[in-house]
Amino acid sequence: MGKWWQEEVVYQIYPRSFQDSNGDGIGDIPGIISRLDEIKALGVGIIWLSPVYKSPDADNGYDISDYMDINPKFGTMADMERLFKEAKARGIRIIMDLVINHTSDEHKWFQESRDKDSPYRDYYIWRPGRMGGKLPPNNWTGFFMGSTWEYDEKSGEYYLHLFDKKQPDLNYHNPKVLNEVKEILRFWLDKGAAGFRCDVINVIYKTSLKDGKPAVAIRGLEHYKSQEGNHRILKELRKDVLSKYDCFTVGETVMVDLDEAKLLCEPEREELDMVFYFDHLEVDRRVARYVPKKFKAKKLLEVLAKWQRGLSWNAVYLENHDQPRIVSHYGDEGKYWARSAKMLATLLLTLKGTPYIYQGQEIGMTNFDYPDMSSLDDVESKNVYKLMRKLQIPAKTAWDWIRMSSRDNARTPMQWSQEEGAGFTTGTPWLPINGNYKEINYQDQHEVNGSVYRFYQRMIAFRAGNETLKYGEFVPLFGDDDTIVYAREGGGEHLVVALNFSPEQKEIPLEGEVLISNTGRSEYDGKLGPYESIVMRH
Ligand code: NOJ
Repeated sequence: MGKWWQEEVVYQIYPRSFQDSNGDGIGDIPGIISRLDEIKALGVGIIWLSPVYKSPDADNGYDISDYMDINPKFGTMADMERLFKEAKARGIRIIMDLVINHTSDEHKWFQESRDKDSPYRDYYIWRPGRMGGKLPPNNWTGFFMGSTWEYDEKSGEYYLHLFDKKQPDLNYHNPKVLNEVKEILRFWLDKGAAGFRCDVINVIYKTSLKDGKPAVAIRGLEHYKSQEGNHRILKELRKDVLSKYDCFTVGETVMVDLDEAKLLCEPEREELDMVFYFDHLEVDRRVARYVPKKFKAKKLLEVLAKWQRGLSWNAVYLENHDQPRIVSHYGDEGKYWARSAKMLATLLLTLKGTPYIYQGQEIGMTNFDYPDMSSLDDVESKNVYKLMRKLQIPAKTAWDWIRMSSRDNARTPMQWSQEEGAGFTTGTPWLPINGNYKEINYQDQHEVNGSVYRFYQRMIAFRAGNETLKYGEFVPLFGDDDTIVYAREGGGEHLVVALNFSPEQKEIPLEGEVLISNTGRSEYDGKLGPYESIVMRH
């Protein structure tokens, strides 16, 4: 038996798309409270709540203007306190999203800091421009494309922003900033938070502001990714605050490799408890998420094996609010939609680590079905599209790539029922609902044996009752273009998992007792059907 955050499954809620309670088309906290029983029934023990803080929403809440207040679109602090209480009553813990690389430009610290003489000046990274102010202070380019510097008339200087210009970066060379962060942590832990998902946590410390070496994108990264100063900060937060509470942290770590990840989350380092990395979702992508290449199951197995065996504990996930839907990505949206969604559930829940399910994944929600860019909301998609066009990528290709990888794929409202508004809202949804809500929705699935939802429920219960699945070693056994086979071994038990990522039947000789499969079979005959998954005891 491990720690509670190793035993439990986490469910991520993207509040604006989860459940609207007042008809304004935006999900909210009372809406979440009204769905806690459903979340509990899935078998989940922890909720990761994407940001609900006060924010002008330039990046949907990842631009915070007050860390200790709630975005009125989502409700009030009293609603938030009720959410903690109601979740606790059901045995569900909540982790908050901690976004501390940057604030909103509308945060009072930033507003003050625009004045050169303000005590807040040093909370951010201000520099004069080059060439008499005409050029930005260095050549860095950011995660949302373009220069990382914005000129501010009032100051006569530029400020650094690795993301949108409405997300100025905090200055971690200033100890006062870290003290503020500690206050924020204590504030939420005292309210009942059980930990934090830490946004882009390995880029918060900028060692130098020198020019970056030549790079197609994200120029300057070598000056701030996974720096020694970053480790110092994480250790200090752990020692001074986090270690005093029964909580855990999962870091979102940008472009991290295994060695860097180990330094960030191996237990003896006393920094984070686990990290989200991206390699396993990019085996069929060339430039980060946007340029496709052919999927090879074997490559996926290699990546999984490297991370599963390389870290003592993993954060296991296939979806979040920044990724396309997994059934549209590694599964099938057509004939094998349900079966492939269940195969991917088998993958998620048979890996070693804490599993994270993103809202809608448990019912096999698919990528959006929008006809063109005009329905999109996401700041990143818009910037990437502009850049692709500037690089002369034909409009049709650019749109195809956006459609495949846009963050809005995950952000369409939760499909609760066949009702108009999909049971998400009685008003006009902030982002259009996928037209397939009549076929894919929670209500239809939760009572039906054999649905994707029921399979998730079953897999979660199965993992909960099986120590080998939770803590056994991961052993890669076989991979080719379409199939992978791995074992989980421990305590004398030997489990074998076989997954088919293709619409064809494959011959895979294996022996053992079938424990669970997505086709309902109880015996294995050496033939793995289209998108079939089986877990066997050997
Ligand atoms: C990662 C978050 O998941 C993403 O949604 C956000 O845009 C960036 N960090 C910046 O905060």
